[in-house]
Amino acid sequence: MESLRGMSAIITGSAQGMGKGIALALAHRGVNVAICDVKKDVLEVTAQEIREATGQKVITGAFDITDEEAVKSFVSKVEAGFGKVDILVNNAGIHPLKPIEEIESKEWDLVFNVNVKASFFFAKAVIPGMRVRKFGRIISISSEAGKNGGTVAALHYAASKGAVLAFVRNLAQQVGADGITVNAIAPGRIATAMSGAVSPEENQKFINNSITKSLGTPEDVAYAVCYLASKEASFVTAETMAVNGGTLRD
Ligand SMILES: NC(=O)c1ccc[n+]([C@@H]2O[C@H](COP(=O)([O-])OP(=O)(O)OC[C@H]3O[C@@H](n4cnc5c(N)ncnc54)[C@H](O)[C@@H]3O)[C@@H](O)[C@H]2O)c1
Repeated sequence: MESLRGMSAIITGSAQGMGKGIALALAHRGVNVAICDVKKDVLEVTAQEIREATGQKVITGAFDITDEEAVKSFVSKVEAGFGKVDILVNNAGIHPLKPIEEIESKEWDLVFNVNVKASFFFAKAVIPGMRVRKFGRIISISSEAGKNGGTVAALHYAASKGAVLAFVRNLAQQVGADGITVNAIAPGRIATAMSGAVSPEENQKFINNSITKSLGTPEDVAYAVCYLASKEASFVTAETMAVNGGTLRD
């Protein structure tokens, strides 16, 4: 995806896991990346790793993405540092594994705040600049659970990931005439800390049910992000791309 060269991107929840994989893949293709996460120390190590591996500029932000003021000031910092934000990847997410009986109202709100509302904060902050430049790529990481309810997913998590799908379909219509596309990716089980919290038996069930007989990797998702972020994907919007080894064939 040569058209990515010279772009700049914000990737949320990018200290580790899929977010880190996405930031690295974009940086390897000539994108300056702004990474943010609550895990300050890990974030700085990741930033250094990306700089050394790719030679690209990296801006870091250690903050909680549910804080709208912190989001606004980070977006301003990135716009000042890189001159623009071409790509926003709403990747950060949390998945407390528990049955409905154990979910408290406060935790329900937290899951929706991180998995859905923070994406609204980021989108609202980056869209004015994207509209002026007539170009933008917004990509939100949903989940297979957002489509089929999941196999091990908690109720609040699956519901929040379903909300992400409606979020992209609505937002895409509001910004499409200004050259901004909005898409979701629905990963199956990907080998990260999040899937590490699921039992090995459940992960094996996913593998058995997949066509590829494997879990996915952060890179598998990152390559899909690179395509959706490219100029070549200008006619793809309001779409949900499955990256799941063929587990959910809908
Ligand atoms: N791993 C999977 O199997 C899988 C499958 C489908 C979808 N997903 C989704 O992919 C995304 C990435 O997940 P992952 O597997 O890399 O998980 P992960 O737990 O390894 O990474 C998530 C990152 O988000 C950060 N984060 C969480 N809350 C935050 C907050 N309030 N502010 C700032 N940062 C915050 C965490 O610190 C962490 O670094 C998530 O949205 C997840 O729901 C994961």
